[in-house]
Amino acid sequence: MLRIGIIGCGKIAQVRHITEYLNNQNVKITALYDVNFQRASTLGEKIGAKAYDSLDELLSSDIDAVSVCSANFAHAQNTIAALNTHKHVLCEKPMAVTLEECEAMVKAASDNKCTLMIDQNQRLARAHVKAKELIEQGVIGKVISFRTIFGHGGPETWSIDPGLNTWFFDKNKASMGAMADLGVHKTDLIQYLLSAKVKSVRAKVCTLDKKYADGSKILVDDNAFCIYEMDNGVIGYMIASWTFYGGEDNSTVIYGTEGVLHIYEDKDYSIVLNLKNGETVKYQLDAIQTNDNQTSSGIIDAFVDCILGKRENVIDGKDVLHAMKTVFCAIESSKSGKKIEV
Ligand SMILES: NC(=O)c1ccc[n+]([C@@H]2O[C@H](COP(=O)([O-])OP(=O)(O)OC[C@H]3O[C@@H](n4cnc5c(N)ncnc54)[C@H](O)[C@@H]3O)[C@@H](O)[C@H]2O)c1
Repeated sequence: MLRIGIIGCGKIAQVRHITEYLNNQNVKITALYDVNFQRASTLGEKIGAKAYDSLDELLSSDIDAVSVCSANFAHAQNTIAALNTHKHVLCEKPMAVTLEECEAMVKAASDNKCTLMIDQNQRLARAHVKAKELIEQGVIGKVISFRTIFGHGGPETWSIDPGLNTWFFDKNKASMGAMADLGVHKTDLIQYLLSAKVKSVRAKVCTLDKKYADGSKILVDDNAFCIYEMDNGVIGYMIASWTFYGGEDNSTVIYGTEGVLHIYEDKDYSIVLNLKNGETVKYQLDAIQTNDNQTSSGIIDAFVDCILGKRENVIDGKDVLHAMKTVFCAIESSKSGKKIEV
């Protein structure tokens, strides 16, 4: 039985990590830590785990692995501290707030021979796995272009500490906005679906609408519009937004020489395949997770299986570096107005 510690006991820890660990027969959550001790303590009483006063105390307790679910700025520090005490780590996205930090996390995992998995859970969604299979089978011919979008109304209603002064809008704690929060999901996803890497990016990463409680514009981006050229010649665009009020869009469309794949676009079918010959094939697999509909993401089972040697690390930290690099390059492109080679 693996013993698990949770670092950061907010919304994603509660609705995803803890929920999915409790449904896994091979683990027991024994330790919790949050800068808000009361939050960890109340949760500990509910699930039968001990709340610790400090990260060091949690890491000194008898645990095998941790989930890092803290605010973005703390991911690298929490992850590296855990790896250096030989704990396996599942870290939330965005992996960290600088490329140097991301690279240091990968190095710490390698030095300590521990698993480092990043919660790029979109790769595990059933329609994405199926779409990758269809693309590899050549069902839509040669891929030409794509569009991939992740937008919702913003994190200020989602966070366990909701409101306009949420840490998600705090430059010091979040560092980046919609581009890193949602854009990294779709950047990682498109690379996974196309088995290709982003070669260059041209982007506008900006703040269009979100304001703090005092009415001033937030200091992180709330929208990102990116054109990606992939290293296999495919070109497409990626949009990440916190200003899709009244409706979430989490869809991807892939255009090939023989047809078009619509993923999580139709409300009834997770994939709709429209072929050049007029045929339509519809797949009813699952519904994409939304803020209001948290179904099992499969990430915890993947992490636990990986530690137990039953599965490869399907989302290794080092495989997420390029998506993070693309995020940083998109921000740089927006500042300079130039295309950036990733
Ligand atoms: N993979 C996904 O789809 C997904 C979805 C939502 C959130 N996330 C990520 O998960 C992380 C947490 O987000 P959330 O939605 O749970 O936010 P949240 O505001 O609901 O919770 C964050 C929690 O972390 C705690 N915290 C902050 N700094 C800490 C530190 N240094 N050490 C320990 N605890 C700390 C806070 O007190 C709070 O309890 C973020 O990085 C976010 O981007 C990922």
